[in-house]
Amino acid sequence: MADFHGKSLIWSMTSNPSPEAGPLRSFGRTKGRPLSPRKQALVDDLLPRLSIPAEGVVDPSALIADKSDYILEIGFGGGEHLTGQAARNPATGFLGVEPFLNGVAKALGQIDDAGLTNIRLLEGDARDVMARMPDACLDRIYLLFPDPWPKARHAKRRLVQDDVAAEFARVLKPGGRLRVATDVKSYADHALFILRRNPDLTWLASKADDWRTPPADHLTTRYETKKLGDCAPIFFEFERRQ
Ligand SMILES: C[S@@+](CC[C@H](N)C(=O)[O-])C[C@H]1O[C@@H](n2cnc3c(N)ncnc32)[C@H](O)[C@@H]1O
Repeated sequence: MADFHGKSLIWSMTSNPSPEAGPLRSFGRTKGRPLSPRKQALVDDLLPRLSIPAEGVVDPSALIADKSDYILEIGFGGGEHLTGQAARNPATGFLGVEPFLNGVAKALGQIDDAGLTNIRLLEGDARDVMARMPDACLDRIYLLFPDPWPKARHAKRRLVQDDVAAEFARVLKPGGRLRVATDVKSYADHALFILRRNPDLTWLASKADDWRTPPADHLTTRYETKKLGDCAPIFFEFERRQ
């Protein structure tokens, strides 16, 4: 098992500010500028046709039938990564959840332009969606550049918490993968601290390059290109224990 830039990990293990999760809001704004007429039309017409249900069970294989595997992307922002992966992997079913309406509308534009049929979306909170999923229904979860909430008093708003880690483990199939990426050092420490103490998740890194080098199948996200963090992007790959 690799160690992640030693000192800061030790610091976070002794002073982790958020041992408990609450139903706190983990995202910022949910609406931006008024949508263009095309985006509004996509929200009104296309979204209902490919929406993840807002209530009840969310079974990926029932929502997108006959796919070889199923992936959830949490907080897809403008959808560039989600739609890029879906275009590359037509045999895979993708579920994307994002509370920012303008991001959802942007993703709808890309889905429409590319004619993608293997994506379902929800404008909402991924924690709610996971809570409605059956056990062991996903092959992969992407959590790419989550809101960092860098101030100590906001740390409980970070999406990665013990209860959410338990949900990741519950909804992943044995051997399924979780990818968490961030360019904020304190978030990397925080995420590693939380995820490593989940007994059902195994960190796959064995050397520094494993978290410093983008995975071969990674597509650069829009947020990642902004380089707003305080370190180079870090990628953590975890596996759901068999
Ligand atoms: C910093 S942005 C990164 C967006 C995108 N992943 C990227 O890399 O370009 C984080 C995104 O996560 C979303 N988010 C935060 N909490 C969420 C939650 N509980 N469920 C789903 N999305 C969430 C935010 O709305 C925001 O769009």
